[in-house]
Amino acid sequence: MIRVAIDGPAGVGKSSTSKALAKYFDFAYLDTGAMYRACAWWCLNQGIDLDAETVDEQTVTEAVGAFFTEGHFDISVDPDDPRVTADGEDISQAIRSSEVSSHVSKVSNIIPVRHVLIAAQRAYIAREAAADSYSRGAGIVAEGRDITTVVAPDAEVRILLTASEAVRQARRTGQAVAGVGAEDVAARDKADSQVTNFLTAADGVLTVDNSDMDFSQTLDVLTTIVEDAI
Ligand code: C5P
Repeated sequence: MIRVAIDGPAGVGKSSTSKALAKYFDFAYLDTGAMYRACAWWCLNQGIDLDAETVDEQTVTEAVGAFFTEGHFDISVDPDDPRVTADGEDISQAIRSSEVSSHVSKVSNIIPVRHVLIAAQRAYIAREAAADSYSRGAGIVAEGRDITTVVAPDAEVRILLTASEAVRQARRTGQAVAGVGAEDVAARDKADSQVTNFLTAADGVLTVDNSDMDFSQTLDVLTTIVEDAI
């Protein structure tokens, strides 16, 4: 059983690399950022004001609680089809919009919201790590901001994937052309780092700086790290 935890800032390529890593090993793939994005999408859809100077934390927490406990939310952990749905509607694209990217930190910074999501993430990881449907043994790659430190600090492999701010901003700007919301990565990192530490590696967490690596080089490095742990 292998749990691979990967954290890192915006625009570092965590999602694409983690997904490819999961495919390579026939592991499940959990995009925890997509869960927070889905919550922000849900709140915006419910007409909750996330632009208010002081966001109504109780209203957001209740909305997120209902989103999870009443079965509106679903996420697939299949790396070939990692879709997110709300009441059966595929929102995988909608949660990547600029609107969601610029509001997601307002939701993810609310501690009771984090507790709901952390519990759900631990449940997915435990379920997949125990499954026997993968050709090379049960495993999961989970990525986000607090996987190596809070969600799965006991994971067999823990990696902090990072890159210089200039490189990350350039990557995100490039993705904007492909339909992902354009944004200021530094602003989101600043907001996110109020509640999670993904800027420095915790004890025992391996740092991989991919500023000078392309996608396949990054994947090679991560694959070798996981191979060594198997
Ligand atoms: O990884 P991604 O950029 O899609 O994450 C979207 C947002 O979700 C982050 O900016 C952060 O606010 C939140 N997040 C979090 N903890 C995680 C993963 C994501 O707070 N483990």
